[in-house]
Amino acid sequence: MTPLNFSKSEALDKDQSNPLQSIQNRFHLPIKNAEPVLYFSGNSLGLQPKGVEESLEAQIHIWAEKGANGYFSDWVEFHHQFLAYFEPIIGGQHHEFMLMNALTVNLHLLMISFYQPTNERYKIIIEGGAFPSDQYAVQSQINFHGYNPKDALVELMPKPGESCLQTEDIIETIEQHGDTTALILLGGVNYYTGQKYDMAAITRTGKHVSAYVGFDLAHAAGNVGLNMHDWDVDFAAWCNYKYLNCGPGSPSGIFVHEKHHQWEGPRFSGWWSNRLDTRFKMDSTLDPIQNAAGWGISNSPIFSMAPMKDALEIYQDVGMDAFIDASHNLTGFLESLITQELPMISIITPTDPTQRGCQLSLTAPNGKVVYDALTDHNVVCDWREPDVFRIAPTPLYNSYSDVYALVQILKNILNPN
Ligand SMILES: Cc1ncc(COP(=O)(O)O)c(C=O)c1O
Repeated sequence: MTPLNFSKSEALDKDQSNPLQSIQNRFHLPIKNAEPVLYFSGNSLGLQPKGVEESLEAQIHIWAEKGANGYFSDWVEFHHQFLAYFEPIIGGQHHEFMLMNALTVNLHLLMISFYQPTNERYKIIIEGGAFPSDQYAVQSQINFHGYNPKDALVELMPKPGESCLQTEDIIETIEQHGDTTALILLGGVNYYTGQKYDMAAITRTGKHVSAYVGFDLAHAAGNVGLNMHDWDVDFAAWCNYKYLNCGPGSPSGIFVHEKHHQWEGPRFSGWWSNRLDTRFKMDSTLDPIQNAAGWGISNSPIFSMAPMKDALEIYQDVGMDAFIDASHNLTGFLESLITQELPMISIITPTDPTQRGCQLSLTAPNGKVVYDALTDHNVVCDWREPDVFRIAPTPLYNSYSDVYALVQILKNILNPN
């Protein structure tokens, strides 16, 4: 075994002085081969907060004891109790948020409103290499409106030889296509590279060319600081099952800026789009809710929402500023160990902490073999084609000792003698 040039006790010292250390006990850690795993996949599925079982059981009991009366005692406005938690996480006010459906479904529903192509303005600008679901969603929206993605889809590409986008290039492309662009829809943090985009600058430029601006915050929500309202973003959607730890299939969140709350444009509706005080009059004319909940369509999936309180309370207890400090420090520690100990590994994620969240995307010679060996050593991270393995040390449940152990395993895999 080739030891690291950094001592294990130094990692332990860092754990001792980590203000978030006690939070780690609030999660269940998966077990494999009778050992707790080293879990670095919060960018895929966050861990289960303790307390979720009780929260689910509480709803199961209400169902058993009250049947349909459960709607009027607990469920009609079930989502409402969670919205304020998103204020510091997404940056907006609770009436600018709604919980509903899954992320891609919400991107479609929001594009029905915010992508209204005309013969003059019909383009959508996205990041090249956006998550496939987003690519399929925008392509199908363009087709749905009778346009051709070959003309209507503008993909932002990095400079040759680079992995990440430069903000000035994004801005230049938006300005170049400004007169013909209807919508700019980017990830807040790119799923593959881990790059966080300058959402404020992109939105400013988007407004300047009179396009709508939306973000897919799947990899940004609960990972980086966000301020959707003040940045004047028109809309956003995210999933709650990654960094926010709300569980597999957890309903997605949407943000719609309050300036759009008197919406009279295109929108798909259902009975949950109707104001609560008139909903059960069963009128044939919609009386729309005039906030983000107006984009809601159906009643809430109670069992999928039940874990949200346990998960979001953790964020509330930690606070976003402390969270982001802890995240910068932990990811910085991983970065410095990789740079010192593993010269054969390249990090494609930006080195500037303000341009990333906790995820580092790594490439290595025979990267898939390295990834498979990590899996054999009880490390949970993921592989993304063509050549990246993603490691996300999340400050809520990863320690400096975890990061130390990971780098030690990587060093053994890469230097077997
Ligand atoms: C950036 C991004 N967009 C969209 C999705 C799709 O999410 P859903 O299956 O909830 O629609 C994911 C899933 O991981 C994602 O990472």
